[in-house]
Amino acid sequence: MEEWRDTTTLDQLFESIKDCRRCSLAQNRTNLVLGAGDERAEIMFVGEAPGFHEDKQGEPFVGPAGKLLDQLLNSIGLDRKQVYIANTLKCRPPENRDPTPEELKTCTPFLYKQIELINPRIICTLGNHATKILLKTSTGITQLHGKLVRKGTLTFVPLFHPAAALHKPPLKSVLIDDFQKLKELLKEEKSRREEEKQASEEPLGEEDAQPEQMGLF
Ligand code: URA
Repeated sequence: MEEWRDTTTLDQLFESIKDCRRCSLAQNRTNLVLGAGDERAEIMFVGEAPGFHEDKQGEPFVGPAGKLLDQLLNSIGLDRKQVYIANTLKCRPPENRDPTPEELKTCTPFLYKQIELINPRIICTLGNHATKILLKTSTGITQLHGKLVRKGTLTFVPLFHPAAALHKPPLKSVLIDDFQKLKELLKEEKSRREEEKQASEEPLGEEDAQPEQMGLF
């Protein structure tokens, strides 16, 4: 039953949970939507839950909100194949209602397992649910959007949900601006990686090159 915990790839994880019946969302589901994209992505996006189109196709963000997400990714020189996209819930809630606390409790261990397997540097939380869960906060996205939150080597970037920007057009320009912050962050990450690489390739300095003196006395 809990074999998913020992899986070491996303395909294995999907195989072990695709017939999940841990909550009532299984009753009306067409497909469990685990996620899609690069298993080794540096950047991960986490939305709320599959909607109508996602449930039918088994892929995250393939409806109107997904089209906007694609445009936003393109605006910073990325496409969805270079990132990984997932949701807090893996099955569609009826009429796209909000996830219940019980459903989130049941389903988010799978999200944490995905994060462990992908090991991204950056996680963009899309909307209130993903932001509150992953940042363990009760503060809403209106206050948190665009503010980077660093936890060890991982940086969280809370963003408005693209569906919210479709309902409230003024939010679209906020989202576009926040994606520019993400672009800057990606640039920083790139130079940090290059510095790390250079440092690891540099010949040892004189001091480092001295053999360790044996303590003879
Ligand atoms: N909204 C989400 O939060 N996730 C999807 O996959 C699609 C729409």
